Amino acid sequence: MVKQLTDHVTFRHGATINSRVVMPPMLTFSGQEGGFASEDTLKYYNARSQAGGMMISEYHYVSETGGPCSVPGFPEQLGIQDDDHLESIRSIAKALKRDGNKAILQIHHGGREAMGRAAKGKEVLAPSGIDFSFLDYPVREMTNEEIEGIIKDFGKATKRAIDAGFDGVEIHGANHYLLQQFFSTISNHRSDHWGGSLEKRMNFPLAVVDEVKRVIAEYAPKDFILGYRISPEEIHGNAIGYTYKESTQLIAEVAKRELDYLSLSILGGYDAKPKGADQSFGQIFKQIVGDDTKVMVVGGVFSEAAAADAVANHTDLIGVGRGTLIDPLFGKKILDGQGDTIVSQISPEQVKKTAWTPGLFEAFTREDSLGLPALPGQESILSLHTGQFGEAATSLPTD
Ligand SMILES: Cc1cc2nc3c(=O)[nH]c(=O)nc-3n(C[C@H](O)[C@H](O)[C@H](O)COP(=O)(O)O)c2cc1C
Repeated sequence: MVKQLTDHVTFRHGATINSRVVMPPMLTFSGQEGGFASEDTLKYYNARSQAGGMMISEYHYVSETGGPCSVPGFPEQLGIQDDDHLESIRSIAKALKRDGNKAILQIHHGGREAMGRAAKGKEVLAPSGIDFSFLDYPVREMTNEEIEGIIKDFGKATKRAIDAGFDGVEIHGANHYLLQQFFSTISNHRSDHWGGSLEKRMNFPLAVVDEVKRVIAEYAPKDFILGYRISPEEIHGNAIGYTYKESTQLIAEVAKRELDYLSLSILGGYDAKPKGADQSFGQIFKQIVGDDTKVMVVGGVFSEAAAADAVANHTDLIGVGRGTLIDPLFGKKILDGQGDTIVSQISPEQVKKTAWTPGLFEAFTREDSLGLPALPGQESILSLHTGQFGEAATSLPTD
């Protein structure tokens, strides 16, 4: 049977969502000093409680050393690195769940990408102390003790997500952040338990999954959702961190740990394929994880037709990122049979209906969107830029 956007989807641990449309994690540039949600954060999430059947929060760093990864000068990335942040995430869970849909907390460690931390003059840690040409700050190799502490921090963050009322957590293993750095031969030059062979490069991401699972088994309701996000390949010209043939091996191991869903971070479009392959990333990874784990892809969905094509042919769940930035009611309109009224382009009129934070507004009224993928119609709002957060030269890693 052809999958429909309005199908109910039940995850392997029992939670059900009322649509195949999901809002993927997106940084809102709205945190207060120290990584706390602000009024702007909550206004944004309140407006998106019907964006899909499940909404995933922006990335939250789990350790003091994990962030912020946000661009210096802009409002900060949010954190869940200690109990003081419990109220902050509780308010986000409440906002996202107010219409009965599911809310997931994305948990993260930035490793070498903690540029906001570097800007505060603090030490930045990574699997290996490599002098990266694209960073304007040094990074130090993590000790074994630090690595084990960070694994525990993922567990503590999961406990906080449970206590705050989230329906699940998503482990951020994508977009060049710490889990990916451990898996990549470009950024992991270690020769201990945490690096070297493909198997050893899997050890850190798998240890994080095991710790998060342990905490879920001990403290969460039975139907608590566990997701894992990965960039299916890391290829920059001739420099290869890993190919999809390696990442599928990692995901086969992750899936053995009874994952509810696997999210693929793709920029080339929801139907993107690895070079030379016949099948799309979504199709390839579905074969790896099997029926019990749902697959989610993202990439350039701005209309009901594109979302319907994605679920019919490539994926169980379709993540609509920039599409829900432009139209916060994307998922609701489809459920209401009004998918033809989805707004697919940003404009000076539509921007008033987006509940964007000032940080998002400033990012998307810049020509470079701070390195984030552009929005359809973005040129129509460039003249609204105010420059209130200074003209940062740095970009965020999104591919
Ligand atoms: C403003 C913005 C912020 C993002 N922040 C995150 C994030 O916090 N975590 C993450 O895994 N991906 C993040 N991404 C990537 C998105 O989740 C998604 O993969 C990407 O936008 C492609 O999907 P789309 O074509 O539907 O926008 C971000 C993307 C945008 C546009």
